[in-house]
Amino acid sequence: MDRNTLTKRFKEIYGKEPDGVYFAPGRVNLIGEHVDYNGGLVFPCALSFGTYLLVARREDKMTAFTTLNFDHAATLDERSFTEKPATWERYPLGVMKEFADKGYDSWGYDLLFYGDVPHRAGLSSSASIELVTAVMLNDVLAAGIDPVELARMSQRAENLFVGMHSGIMDQFASAMGKANHAIALDCATLGFEWVPLDMEGYSVVVANTNKRRELADSKYNERRGECEEAARILGREIALETLCELTPEVFEKYAGKITDDTIRRRARHAVSENARVKEAVAALKGGNLQRFGQLMNDSHRSLKEDYEVTGIELDTLAEEGQKLEGVLGSRMTGAGFGGCTVSLVANDAIPSFVATLGERYKALVGLTADFYVASIGDGAMKLD
Ligand code: GLA
Repeated sequence: MDRNTLTKRFKEIYGKEPDGVYFAPGRVNLIGEHVDYNGGLVFPCALSFGTYLLVARREDKMTAFTTLNFDHAATLDERSFTEKPATWERYPLGVMKEFADKGYDSWGYDLLFYGDVPHRAGLSSSASIELVTAVMLNDVLAAGIDPVELARMSQRAENLFVGMHSGIMDQFASAMGKANHAIALDCATLGFEWVPLDMEGYSVVVANTNKRRELADSKYNERRGECEEAARILGREIALETLCELTPEVFEKYAGKITDDTIRRRARHAVSENARVKEAVAALKGGNLQRFGQLMNDSHRSLKEDYEVTGIELDTLAEEGQKLEGVLGSRMTGAGFGGCTVSLVANDAIPSFVATLGERYKALVGLTADFYVASIGDGAMKLD
């Protein structure tokens, strides 16, 4: 939907012109899954699709939430900070609460959201709603908060208001993305580096399983708890705050202390994935795309076998994809339990990749996949 249409819809709904238009992207993570909350290194990039937000001031202390994506709309006041609605506006409300907690009056706006990120596909549509709200409030309140802090506030909104105990990766990528770059982010320190995606002849292709991510939030929180348990057990043996402080060698030395096989495998994934990301970032910088691709494949296997967050849909797309001509690597991206894969595919092989993988997936799983050649864009911003 173009900007003129969005403005027209805003006028139809609210009977006035918007004062401002903002955008925040979704993200695709190239490698480094389920390590952000374990203090590890991740390697996401911002997409060119995301969430748009149009805003106008209103006279009372209410805020109106409308989206072009769902029928549900609401006009709320500050009681909803404690009532916490279960509907989509809890994402912007959580961010408004973060501003309120810093002493800002975040009420009194008419808001219209529109997202073109596939919903619940593991491409961070929720982080893009949070960040677009944060960037808008930062602007209209002249708060002058830096983008990294806006990402932290959005993560807190997700953790405390929405109740999903996610790490910082998605919000950071949405806030700090840069066109044609991936972000090597150390989640323990929030130190980061933009790495150019120089992938001559290759593209990042996202494939959506179109499997709804049911129960994903509770399983996500369960995995996070298992990692914390593993860190507690290992912390009795060696000084340690998060699992990703360990190299795979040191981990294997102490792994036997974790008697529960499931918890041990969860920890092994986190530690090995962190090591893979380090190597993958170096491989990309060195122009070794082949190695990058192998590490993506290894990452998928670890997420399937040790972390158990894949499923038939993601496994079929990733594993069948890995077999195809021109594919350097393929893995699930995001939280898992449905959602998308990310693959590195030679440009001239993309049409056959889409056709052959689409057919195999349909035949083996019975669902139709969607494919997008990712265009890597900038982080959250004011457009007009
Ligand atoms: C979700 C969370 C992120 C991260 C990924 C898995 O997207 O929001 O913080 O943990 O899952 O890597």
